[in-house]
This record gives sequence, C-alpha cells and structure tokens, in this order.
Amino acid sequence: MANYRIAWLPGDGIGKDVMEATRPVLDAVGLDAEYLHGDIGWEFWCAEGDALPQRTIELLQRVDAALFGAITSKPVRDAEAELVPPLRGKGLVYRSPIVRMRQLFELYVCLRPCKAYRGNPLNYKEGIDLVVFRENTEDLYSGVEFRPVPEEVHATLARFAPTFAPFQRHTGSDLAISCKVNTRQGSERIARAAFEYARAHGRSKVTIIHKANVVRASEGLFLETCRQVAKDYPEIQCDDANVDAICMWLLKNPMNYQVLVATNMFGDIVSDLCAQMVGGLGFGCSGNIGDQLAVFEPTHGSAPKYAGQYKANPIATILAAKMMLEWLGEAEKAAAVEGAVAEVIAEGKVRTYDMGGSASTLDMGRAIAAKL
Ligand code: NAI
Ligand code: MG
Repeated sequence: MANYRIAWLPGDGIGKDVMEATRPVLDAVGLDAEYLHGDIGWEFWCAEGDALPQRTIELLQRVDAALFGAITSKPVRDAEAELVPPLRGKGLVYRSPIVRMRQLFELYVCLRPCKAYRGNPLNYKEGIDLVVFRENTEDLYSGVEFRPVPEEVHATLARFAPTFAPFQRHTGSDLAISCKVNTRQGSERIARAAFEYARAHGRSKVTIIHKANVVRASEGLFLETCRQVAKDYPEIQCDDANVDAICMWLLKNPMNYQVLVATNMFGDIVSDLCAQMVGGLGFGCSGNIGDQLAVFEPTHGSAPKYAGQYKANPIATILAAKMMLEWLGEAEKAAAVEGAVAEVIAEGKVRTYDMGGSASTLDMGRAIAAKL
C-alpha cells in the first residue's frame, strides 16, 4: 500500500493541463502515493447540479491531502441556463466548490508563498521572498449578505445607527448589506499559523495587515488578537500596517517584509499583489489548510481560452505540489522539487508563453521532472 492517499482534482479548462504536467514531477521525486481522481467543476454542475458532488466530498474525507487544478464558474443566470434541461427551474444554486471545501473542512489557513526565483523574466525585483497568511473562513466572505434587505434586519440596524443616511433613504433592493464577521478564535488560529511558520522557517518578522483605525470592531479584534499571539513568540519581531499603506510599501520596499498575516479579503487582495511581483498567475500557488485536510492549488482559474492547448504555465501547480509535500512532512522532496523549478527558471531554456517562450505546459513539467 502506498504511503499517502492524494485526492487528484483537475477540474476544468487549463486545470487539467497543469495537473497533467505536475504528475511526472511527483513521480520523479519518488512520492509514494496513490492518486485518487475526484470529480469537480463545471461539467458536474451542468450534468448533476453540483460542482462538488457528494462522492468527491467523501473522497476528501479519506485522503491525506488534495491537489486541485482550477474550476470555471459563471454568473447565476448563465449557470442556470447551462444545466441539463431536467434540472432547470428547480432552484439549484451554483456554489463555488473551493469555497465549499474551505467551509466543509474548515481549511482556515490560506497560505501563499511568493518567491522571486532567480532569472524569472517576470520578477518585479530579484530577491523577493514573501509569505502571506490569509484567514480563509470568515470576514467579508462569510456569505452573510442581504439584498433585498429584509425589513427586520433594516429596522434593527437603523435602530443602532439612527443618523446613518443610507438606512433612512434606501430600502429593498436599493440597499445591499454584506456582513464582515470576524472572531477571536478565527483571528487567533491564523495569527498562530503565521508565527509558527516564521519560527519553523527562520523568519525574523511578521507583519499584521489591517484597517483597525476605520473598521474598528472587526479589524480591531483581529489586530488585538494578533498582537496577543505575538507575545508567545518573543524572538520574532512583530509590526503592523494599514492595508492601503502596505500596498504602497510592498511595491516600494518588498525586501522589508517576510511573513504577512491578514483577514480574508485583505489577504486575498494583498496576496495577488505579492504574486504579481514574482511572476503572476503562472507562479501563484496556495494552500488551503485545516487541522485534518489541506487542499493545494494554483491561484489562477481555468483560462477557458487556453483549455486543452497545453499553453498554460504549470509552475504554479508544481509549486502547489511542493507545498503539499511540505505539509505531508516530506521536506526533502519538497526542497528537491523547488530546486528543480529554480534551476529550470534560472537556465531560461524552457519557458512558457507568459515567460516569453514557446514551451508547452508538458515541456515545462518534463523539464522540471528531468532535474530530479
Ligand atoms: P484565469 O486565471 O482563468 O485566467 C486569466 C488569464 O490569465 C488567462 O486568460 C491567461 O491569459 C492567464 N493565465 C492564467 N493562468 C495561467 C497560467 N497558468 N499560465 C499562463 N497564463 C495564465 O481567470 P479568468 O479568465 O478571470 O477566469 C476564468 C474562469 O476561471 C472563470 O470561470 C473564473 O470563475 C474561474 N476562476 C477559478 C479560480 C479557481 O479555480 N481557483 C480562480 C479564478 C478564476
Ligand atoms: Mg483571489
């Protein structure tokens, strides 16, 4: 029996291409794993009314980790129109499978390393090496939203904010309310993950990203909780910055930062900024990590215009696989994969279109596997 069971979730579009290119790398590094294919994505929404079928959820319950390619998602009306006729008009609602996996399995850490590999023509500056910890289960993405706003909710809120003009003049679907929900526990576990990472990886500083001066309640709780956690890590310097200011500072002096921690939406935004500084969509990878399960993925989507053309850069997915190896405790294999990626980038002979070359997705995967 293999040492690990890995759920293999290619999904849609280029998700299939980049996953196909990643497998030879895992084979070359000698991971002793059984890969179990899982159905996920648009095809299953259209045919079954569920982009994350129950059988895939059950699969995720019995694996050590999952590697996920990408999925396609579309606005509500288009989603309804593409269902097979017998499923239309039944009130089925499309839900993002990645959001559902995060919620179902409490994948509360979104870990996004952003490293400028030497010689990548897409680097904003050489030497950037940032790691973003984004809270993954609450905040403005909690899904507690109102439009139209029910009278009950409107009346209650108006009672607490009697002078706030929008509550006096707007009702029904002319008013939209999305709740930003943050908890001490949610803030504490992401902060602890960031500081534990810093400690384990010899990083000397963690920066808390927030907007506590304006969004006082929820961001205030986050900042307060992170600072409390920082006390348990006296050897690690802790500073903080407003989310708007950090976007400027990161561009100006990216080398001043090491580990960043933020609530869900700010983390989402800042991690895209960081990913773009080290090569963009072909390089951005992320881990959705909980206590029982972790799902690793490239951050890009299914890029339908390139689906099945083997044009997309698989490095983001290969780096996601490297993160998965780390999470499984296979540090040496993870380092070997990263070394192989770094070598191929530095040589500059095999480059996909986004890097200015003409190598295919599979060429890139094979070149990296060959270094192992
Ligand atoms: P996208 O990330 O799929 O692609 C945008 C563009 O970025 C592509 O057209 C391509 O030019 C480039 N690109 C993306 N990945 C690349 C790679 N590996 N190598 C080289 N170039 C790459 O975003 P888009 O077009 O906004 O969304 C397409 C579909 O993907 C939508 O249905 C969207 O909902 C979904 N999506 C899914 C995500 C996921 O599965 N986690 C994340 C983002 C979008
Ligand atoms: Mg995003």
